[in-house]
Amino acid sequence: MIPVYNSEQTLCAYLRPLTADYCATMSELPTLVAKWRNTNKDWFLTSFHATEDGSKTWLDNIIQSQNRLLFIVEDLCHHKIGHIGYAKINHTKKSGEIDAVIRGEASDTPMLMTHGLNALLAWGRTHLQLQNISLTVLSHNHSAIKLYKRCGFRQMNEIPLRKANRDGKIIFEDAPELKESEYYKLVMFYEG
Ligand SMILES: CC(C)(COP(=O)(O)OP(=O)(O)OC[C@H]1O[C@@H](n2cnc3c(N)ncnc32)[C@H](O)[C@@H]1OP(=O)(O)O)[C@@H](O)C(=O)NCCC(=O)NCCS
Repeated sequence: MIPVYNSEQTLCAYLRPLTADYCATMSELPTLVAKWRNTNKDWFLTSFHATEDGSKTWLDNIIQSQNRLLFIVEDLCHHKIGHIGYAKINHTKKSGEIDAVIRGEASDTPMLMTHGLNALLAWGRTHLQLQNISLTVLSHNHSAIKLYKRCGFRQMNEIPLRKANRDGKIIFEDAPELKESEYYKLVMFYEG
């Protein structure tokens, strides 16, 4: 469990790692993950209707993956508020991407996601020796961009996107050839 501290260095939350025994220890997780994803589906590069079964597959894939980690954001009473993680972890390049950032529930803890992301960044630098941490975000996702800037990310690139429908999923795919587009994604790098 990663402790999360606020700006006064007071413990305010926890990041609980997703582990292989989650069906026994966090049996409600697939339901919560599906609910959180459906509530926030428009903020991701792939938009679809999430189900409990699909979310269980997503969680199982993360556990089996060598380069992904997911943490459940819990308040001090261990209420599950959201999740946050790393993807594309590359130990050789000491790189990784912040991934799966969702606040799914309201919380009395101010700036919970900011403190949670700061804790995840510090943990990644110390325990995974990550030196190059990046992320992508839709350019109209102002709440997320504010969060990432507060935590020390700076915008590096802006890439035009094409919105497409693939097998019932709305996806935003890179379209670098477009001079102008309705949608863009920002690539941001952590500068500390
Ligand atoms: C992105 C996301 C995680 C950011 O969460 P958040 O709740 O804004 O982040 P924090 O917990 O750090 O809270 C900070 C906000 O709470 C506000 N706040 C702080 N104390 C507060 C209080 N006592 N009462 C009310 N608001 C308060 C801050 O002003 C800040 O708002 P601002 O960013 O508009 O200035 C959330 O918007 C989300 O889940 N979005 C949908 C999914 C998503 O977009 N994910 C990212 C994909 S790349």
